[in-house]
Amino acid sequence: MNCLQSWPEPVVRVQHLSESGITSIPDRYVKKPSDRPVFLESSIGSELNINMPVINMANLYSDDVLLQQKTADLIVDACREWGFFQVVNHGVSHGLMARSREVWREFFKLPPEEKQKYANEPRTYEGYGSRLGVEKGISLDWGDYFFLNYLPIGIRDQNKWPSLPFSCRELIAEYSEEVVKLGGKLMKIFSSNLGLREYYLEEAFGGEGNMSGCMRVNYYPKCPQPDLTLGLSPHSDPGGFTILSPDENVSGLQVRRDGGWVTVDPMPNAFIINIGDQLQILSNSKYKSVEHRVIVNSAKERLSLAFFYNPRGDMLI
Ligand code: OGA
Ligand code: NI
Repeated sequence: MNCLQSWPEPVVRVQHLSESGITSIPDRYVKKPSDRPVFLESSIGSELNINMPVINMANLYSDDVLLQQKTADLIVDACREWGFFQVVNHGVSHGLMARSREVWREFFKLPPEEKQKYANEPRTYEGYGSRLGVEKGISLDWGDYFFLNYLPIGIRDQNKWPSLPFSCRELIAEYSEEVVKLGGKLMKIFSSNLGLREYYLEEAFGGEGNMSGCMRVNYYPKCPQPDLTLGLSPHSDPGGFTILSPDENVSGLQVRRDGGWVTVDPMPNAFIINIGDQLQILSNSKYKSVEHRVIVNSAKERLSLAFFYNPRGDMLI
């Protein structure tokens, strides 16, 4: 492991590149031909008729026991087959979701000096960042981000969260609290669906209130050559599971499916849930942690909020 305390070369903000008006992207962002996205035919799930399952969470608490069971079964199938699903009627206020995305859009519109106050370092990644990895000369993705820790409370440091826009810290706290509640409900369902006690996974994650939760706000600026690069290279999420609030206007997330990439068609006000590596392991690989990536486009920027619901840092999985 490389334990550099700082970046090996000056950090370039992708937003800055995008706004500078360049018509071709620097080589560092150009992916090798086999890794580039294909825009020729439609890859949108709904057009291919293979969209990921959409779960109405209200049905899990219905008086109709059959409907409850059917919905739980849909989640099992989604976790096994896709590693991904969308949830509606999830209990998080739609207004809060929209306001949270909006406040982050405003953050990225702030002057560079203001954002620079939160510039991150590879030791913790906390703050405003533009790259992952400290290897000199590595290929870069077309995106900036803000990474912050929410749980456990011991590592939460609100001074590292943006103080501007004014409502940002408050919204982060309110949004994260609601999302963690949703995560708790999903944990029970994931446990029961494995035939385990409702609290099994919660305990495996470190016990009530001890799990780890962090957020990565992804900002993908407009790109003059979207066919040459990616907003986020293929990866699986390393932790428990992810609760993603995608951009309401622009799609971009692609999920590995039968050797190809399916572009997710987000439902309004839905969250996209995906299984991470550690939950795959805890489930004895019944649930799949599936590779995904993000494509960018030349017409619109894209913003997403990824909340990672993870086991406590020192849990043995
Ligand atoms: C992530 C991620 C997807 C997106 O942050 O791990 O996969 O749509 N984000 O931004
Ligand atoms: Ni991811």
